[in-house]
Amino acid sequence: DSGMFTFDPGYTSTASCKSGITYIDGDKGELLYRGYPIDELAEQGDFLETCHLLLYGDLPTREQYEDFENRVTYHTMIHEQMSRFFTGFRRDAHPMAIMVGVVGALAAFYHDSTDISDPMQRDIAALRMIAKMPTIAAMAYKYSIGQPFVYPRNELNYAHNFLYMCFAVPCEEYKIDPVLARAMDRIFILHADHEQNASTSTVRLAGSSGANPFACIASGIACLWGPAHGGANEAALNMLQEIGTVDRIPEYIDRAKDKDDPFRLMGFGHRVYKNYDPRAKVMQKTAREVLDLVGVQDDPLLQVAQELEKIALEDPYFVDRKLYPNIDFYSGITLKALGFPTSMFTVLFAIARTVGWIAQWKEMIADPDQKIGRPRQLYIGPARRDYVPIQDR
Ligand code: SDX
Repeated sequence: DSGMFTFDPGYTSTASCKSGITYIDGDKGELLYRGYPIDELAEQGDFLETCHLLLYGDLPTREQYEDFENRVTYHTMIHEQMSRFFTGFRRDAHPMAIMVGVVGALAAFYHDSTDISDPMQRDIAALRMIAKMPTIAAMAYKYSIGQPFVYPRNELNYAHNFLYMCFAVPCEEYKIDPVLARAMDRIFILHADHEQNASTSTVRLAGSSGANPFACIASGIACLWGPAHGGANEAALNMLQEIGTVDRIPEYIDRAKDKDDPFRLMGFGHRVYKNYDPRAKVMQKTAREVLDLVGVQDDPLLQVAQELEKIALEDPYFVDRKLYPNIDFYSGITLKALGFPTSMFTVLFAIARTVGWIAQWKEMIADPDQKIGRPRQLYIGPARRDYVPIQDR
């Protein structure tokens, strides 16, 4: 019956759902969360109000904001027994591997939130996930460098608290420049949602079977890890470091164009954007601010990135294919300047994207037309044949 189906590898022309959360116009390079342009949210808003917007459909009033903040911060701790999970991993474990395991294990600790038939429990699951992701991520980081875990401080805002849990050390006064905390917050806003990207589609597909929300988010984290998706921020920085100096750029541009070479420009190209990724614009500006503040105005990596972008945007190969820098191109430089090792980059993406994943999951579960996701295939294997006993083969 293979002739009955539309063949659409990579779903380039299939809408998998109806959604009222995020809108992208790829030709214009426009991104809206619930109607609000991404640059306005990133420049004027904060991450927690963006979470409220994505989850509940509107920006909060002051009163709603305070209530939401209280409801999120109530859940920032993880069960103390979970802290033992980390010590089971090798110190050199990739933090994304730890994230997949620990987030999946949340289902074993918060049984009440696995009841997806109860809208209140679904909401609590969302709050728990948003609240606990920074704590889990910071613990993975602290474990990797052999430092004691730092518990959340709820009077700090979301991004600031995360930086605190990562970079505070016992017996030393902890201080961070508000510009850096603001940059972290902005990075979270820029990554918060992006309609039906690979990891969000994974979360929806997992959720369509009725799987619990923690398992669904763990599957999203696993998908995000790939270098063609969220892993590109780590890959992009590794690439810039490998290129090293501006004079070596042409060699790498040639390699990216060579179809016999698997190398691609990391942080370049996008399935939907055939114009500049609007998030990359804000990201580039943020990178500049952070580098100026931490005193590395002449960071060779930024020079390489800017020159690479310039050369690529003038090259007919990239122009013809409408390949522009995406969000991951400048985020790595910024995260490095904030003090994170490359292995943490995709983890930071996962923290931010959790709200998008869970908002999309909630939207799907509440949709009366929701069905289990079950694509078909074009079968290309052997036709029916008879079993041959092993001695006769
Ligand atoms: C994210 O989907 C989302 O919304 C994702 C995301 C989100 O917020 O969730 O925006 C986050 O994942 C950003 C993307 C990060 N990935 C990278 O930066 C990795 C490098 N880029 C790619 O591999 C690629 O561009 C993708 C995966 C992003 C998009 O792949 P598509 O849509 O399948 O496009 P394609 O591979 O078919 O490319 C079309 C053409 C091809 O050439 P031709 O065969 O037509 O000659 O463009 C070429 C590709 O070879 N091409 C590149 C290239 N990206 C595409 N050539 C060189 N370098 C590149 N980076």
